[in-house]
Amino acid sequence: MADIRLDKFLADAGAGTRSEVKIKIKKGQVTVNGEAAGKSDIKINPDCDEVCLDGKKLIYNEFEYFMLNKPQGVVSATKDDMDKTVIELITEAKRRDLFPVGRLDKDTEGLLIITNDGKLSNNLLAPGKHVDKTYFAIIDGEVTEDTVLRFDEGIDIGDDKPTAPAKLRILYDDKDEASDVVYNSGDSCDDFVSDGIVKSKVEITITEGRYHQIKRMFEAVGMKVTYLKRLSMGSLSLDDSLKPGEYRRLTDEEIKLLNGSF
Ligand code: URA
Repeated sequence: MADIRLDKFLADAGAGTRSEVKIKIKKGQVTVNGEAAGKSDIKINPDCDEVCLDGKKLIYNEFEYFMLNKPQGVVSATKDDMDKTVIELITEAKRRDLFPVGRLDKDTEGLLIITNDGKLSNNLLAPGKHVDKTYFAIIDGEVTEDTVLRFDEGIDIGDDKPTAPAKLRILYDDKDEASDVVYNSGDSCDDFVSDGIVKSKVEITITEGRYHQIKRMFEAVGMKVTYLKRLSMGSLSLDDSLKPGEYRRLTDEEIKLLNGSF
């Protein structure tokens, strides 16, 4: 790792804001390799210098990675005047430069990666890398094998060009927590009726990230998405022990998996 200023090291290690850590340095609370650090702007190397605050060794991670099960009603942004943001949910973050990798709509749930690793984010989102994103969806309308074929050919959603082919899988299992509707024809049906409307449950995989893409794809075939949850991105799947609003750090293995997704 390259050398960095001591005050940046401390702030990034979660020791306080830049101005708070400057005060701590002045007060003599910070040591570098056992010596009191008099100045905030001295350069240290996170790989070999030992930095302590009040005698406790600080751990510095250049990057942080979280998996969030995004709940509905929260926006995929770093700041927002009206709504709570996904960043506000990551209460144990040390780094202040975290951002969500891409966006999920306010009413979409599911897997969202929160990091400060811009390179990883760019790679996962780059149109040329075609990283798979798989969602579970409940649809107002009867999704049929014909719909599957149409999605496989790409759908004109009013942009310059049709979407890339999307894999649509009709779900035949009626057991999922997303819906408490009553099925009209037993276990092996692909559609059901709720409030007099035929509904379908599907899994859909897209490789692009256009604005409201899945909702617009179903609209283009005369149907409406009423529930959407992202299940995976590249090789990373949502940990199903995370309830909406919960998060955890990614494991080293998962970070490796993500880096192998493009
Ligand atoms: N497609 C959508 O329509 N919404 C999302 O949040 C993600 C994909």
